[in-house]
Formats: sequence, structure tokens, C-alpha cells
Amino acid sequence: MRSVCKTLKRWVSDARVSRAACGPRVVKSFETAAGAAAYPRVKGDQEVTKLRAIVVGAGGISGAWFPPLRKEKVEVAAVVDLDRKRAEEAVEKYRLKSVAVATDLDKVLRDVEADFVLDLTVPEAHCSVTCKALRAGLHVIGEKPMATSMAEARKMVRASEESGKSYMVSQSRRWNPLPETCRKAIASGRLGGLTTLDCDFFIGAHFGGFRDEMPSPLILDMSIHHFDMARMMSGRDPVRVYAEEFNPKGSWYKGDVAANCIFEMTDGVRFAYRGSWCAEGCHTSWNGDWRFIGTKGTMLYADDKKPYGEVVAGGKGFELTKKPLKVAKAMVRYEGFHGGLREMLAFLRTGKKSQCECHDNIKSLAMVFSAIESSHSGKRVPVRVS
Ligand SMILES: NC(=O)c1ccc[n+]([C@@H]2O[C@H](COP(=O)([O-])OP(=O)(O)OC[C@H]3O[C@@H](n4cnc5c(N)ncnc54)[C@H](O)[C@@H]3O)[C@@H](O)[C@H]2O)c1
Repeated sequence: MRSVCKTLKRWVSDARVSRAACGPRVVKSFETAAGAAAYPRVKGDQEVTKLRAIVVGAGGISGAWFPPLRKEKVEVAAVVDLDRKRAEEAVEKYRLKSVAVATDLDKVLRDVEADFVLDLTVPEAHCSVTCKALRAGLHVIGEKPMATSMAEARKMVRASEESGKSYMVSQSRRWNPLPETCRKAIASGRLGGLTTLDCDFFIGAHFGGFRDEMPSPLILDMSIHHFDMARMMSGRDPVRVYAEEFNPKGSWYKGDVAANCIFEMTDGVRFAYRGSWCAEGCHTSWNGDWRFIGTKGTMLYADDKKPYGEVVAGGKGFELTKKPLKVAKAMVRYEGFHGGLREMLAFLRTGKKSQCECHDNIKSLAMVFSAIESSHSGKRVPVRVS
């Protein structure tokens, strides 16, 4: 059996040995609503076995993933892209050895032995790639946004439950020290009870490619980050939204690329969001500029600088006396994409569920589609996951 597996590792582009011939590589199961966790547990997240990944999609963002894959000593078993040239270029650029290059994901899933799929395709392909991989018995970590509709996202959650394989969405901004600093400051209660979050995001972004053509490019492809950050930093989930999308005069996008949204979150917290990808000059940061208001004070996080704030110190009258808010900068050991990858690897090695596991991440996606629904209907709508 070992020698068959070794042969597989040397598989280049014309795999001859099927997964069935090699048997299951490791026990692959995770805690579902139904129960049972059968994944082998070890101390911490030490390496149990060298993990193998199939990377699907070798476009722009793959450049952010190959370096952490290498750092974590994940063996890339195959790179799949509809555009074979892109897959070949990635293999050459990142000097990947003994790796299958392919355009046919079905064949790769049949023939290549791996532990998980890294889905870096365009949003329209996420549902099909992820469902195929889960049904083939592999765990999946995929790029945001989870899907291009709630129906697709629910299908992906079902595929995860039915296959017993984990699907997590990488929300790279969750592994950034500054949002983590905000999360900790809010959770500490030093602002008092949280009442309000505001986020402004204004950038003139000339991408070219799929974003120029898709409907709702801002909300679907970018605001998903800010909506997910709002959930992560506030610890609140969405309840209802009123939103208006529009395409400003002079826009180089086909879809509506600017939006104003007001979310009601749990605990009565309000999250007001203003954004545009068609705003030349005076850009905000890519993470957005944020204001958090609590019953005792306010914290600002803007221009990707350390968050700061003021809280009430006492006094009487029209304006109370304030003192600086104590904000301790959080340490994040593995940042961005690397942080997401670490959570998938920790799951594979220890069974610890990622914070972006699909049952949770679908709530961020629901903010996206409820905002779009509100924008189309002109009404305030509930944010529904199921
Ligand atoms: N987390 C972040 O900060 C961040 C930043 C940029 C992009 N992204 C996300 O990453 C994803 C990819 O974005 P990108 O900029 O790399 O796009 P891209 O267009 O540069 O690359 C996508 C690649 O996927 C391939 N592809 C499409 N459908 C496929 C399929 N069914 N099977 C195999 N390959 C397929 C395309 O040929 C292309 O090479 C998107 O979901 C995007 O939102 C995330």
C-alpha cells in the first residue's frame, strides 16, 4: 500500500492510479450537527502527516496562497485551472515539484490523492468546485465570497453535511492584528455596551476582468469582507437590513458599484455601511475606516492605524469629561491568507473547527444577499440564512 501511495506522489500529468486503489489517506470526518468526530486528535496542532492539497484556480490570488502553502510544508499535489497556461505558470513560478497540472477537476479528484482542496476560482465557480471536492471526500478551504447566491451557499453547506467533510471560507481580514485589536477592545467592555458600528470604504479600483462585468461588484466581492469584519469585531449577527446600491455617474463597472446599507444586528446594535469602488481620490484603507460607539465611549479604527478612542471619565453638564481608551494592540502570529490556512491545517490535524466554517460564514454571505434584496425591493428585509 505504501509503495502505491509513493507512486502517486510522483504522479505528474497522466495519473494512472485511482484514489480507490490507494484507500483512504487518513480518516476524514468532522463534527456535523449529527455528531461524531472521527478525525485523529493530537496534542496542539503538531504535524500528524504531510498534508496534500489540490489547488483549483491559479489566477491573481493564488500568488498569496502558494508561499504560505510552502511555509506550512503542504505538498501541492495538483494545480487545476480552466486555463492550463495559468496553472503551468504557477507551477513554474513557485517551483512546485511532482505536481499534476490539469484543466479537468473531475479527473484530478478521481486520480489524485490529497487531503483538501484550495478553491481559488472566480466566485461563479465556487459552488461547483466545492461541492465536487466535498463529494469526492476532500475537505475544502475556499476564497470568499462563498457563492454567488444563497441557494448555492445552502447547497454547499448541505454538501459539507452530507459528505461529513469540512468547508471553510477564507476571510483573510480576520487574521489581521488591527481588526483583532478592535474585537478584543470591544469584548473587554471598556466601551460599555456596544450600540453602533460605522464603516466607510471608498476606493477607485480599476481591476479589469470579472469584477467589471458582474452584478453588485462592491457588495458581493468587497463588502463581504467588511460585513464579515463587522460580525467578527462586534460579536453580533445580522438581523435586518435596508440598503441602496447604485452605479455612480462615470462608473467603469457594469453593475452597481456603490452602496449605503443600514444593518440591525443582534442586541439592537446598528451597523451603517457606506462604500464605493468607483471613488477617485482620498481613499480609505482597504479594511475600511471604522467608528465603534458604546455606552461609555467611542473607538476609531481608520487608515489602518492603531485603533484609539475616548471614554467617559466623569463630570456633569452638556459634555462629560473624557479620558483616552486603553487599547492594547493584539498579536496575530499568522496573518491574512496564512492565518486562514493555519485554521484549515489545525482542523485537519486536531479537529478544531475554523471560525469561518461554512455554517458560520454563510451568515456573512446572507448580509450580502439581503442587502442586494433590499436594494432591489426598496424595502427593509430580514437577513435570512436558511
Ligand atoms: N481575500 C482577498 O483579499 C481576495 C483578494 C482577491 C481575490 N479574492 C478572491 O479570490 C477569488 C479569485 O480571484 P482572482 O483575483 O484570483 O481571480 P482571477 O480571475 O485572477 O483567477 C481565477 C482563476 O480561476 C480559474 N477558474 C475559473 N473557473 C474555474 C473552474 N471551474 N475550474 C478551474 N479553474 C477555474 C480562471 O481560469 C482563473 O485563472 C475570487 O473569489 C476573489 O473574490 C480574495
